[in-house]
Amino acid sequence: MFKIVVFASGSGSNLRSLLNEFDKSKDIRVDFVISDKIHPGAFDVAAEYSVPVLNVAETGKPGFLTYDALASVFTEKNINLIVLAGFLKKIPDSFVRTFRSRIINIHPALLPGFGGAGMYGIRVHRAVFESGVKISGATIHFVDEYYDHGKIIAQAAVDIKDALSPEDIAGLVLKTEHKLLPETVRKIAAGKLKEIDNRIIIL
Ligand code: GRF
Repeated sequence: MFKIVVFASGSGSNLRSLLNEFDKSKDIRVDFVISDKIHPGAFDVAAEYSVPVLNVAETGKPGFLTYDALASVFTEKNINLIVLAGFLKKIPDSFVRTFRSRIINIHPALLPGFGGAGMYGIRVHRAVFESGVKISGATIHFVDEYYDHGKIIAQAAVDIKDALSPEDIAGLVLKTEHKLLPETVRKIAAGKLKEIDNRIIIL
C-alpha cells in the first residue's frame, strides 16, 4: 500500500479529488489530513471519507502537534508521500530534510512564473490576470527549502484568453488541478519518476 498524507489549509477541493480517486484503490490510500487551521473545510471532506485529521503548528500549541511529532508519526506509519494541497504555511527546513523528495506541492500557475513568498490563492491569479498572459496552468513540484522552488514534476496548461477576472482564471485552473494531482500521485506511486540531468522525467 502506498500511503499518502495531505496537508491543506482551505476548502479541500484538491483533497476531495484525491479521495475520490483513491477511495476504492487497493494500492494508494490517504492516511491523514493535516492542517495548520483548527477546522478548515478540508477536515469536513476528510470526515466524509473517514480519514483521521491532525493539527500542526511550528511551536507547541494545545491540540496541535509540532512538526517533529508529526515526523515521528509519519515515520512510524511508513508514510510514502506528503502532498501539500492548498497548505499556506511554509514547511520547516528540518521537516523538508527528513522527507526530502517525498513532499510535493500543487501550485496554481506555471512555475517558475507567478510563484514565491506571498504568491498563494487569488493573489497568484490576480498577478497572472494583470500580466496579460494567455496561458496559465498548474504545477506539481517537489518541496525544498524555498517557496515554490523545488524540481518540477508535472504541469498542465490552461487557456485563459477568454477569462474576464482573476476569479475566472482560478476556476479554470482549479479544474485542471483536480485532474493533474491524482494523475501525478498515481505516477509517483507507480515509481514512474526518474531524475535525468537534474530534470524530473515521468516515464
Ligand atoms: C488550489 O488552487 C491550490 O493550488 C492552492 O490553493 C488552492 C486550494 O484549493 N495552493 P483547495 O483547498 O484544494 O480547494
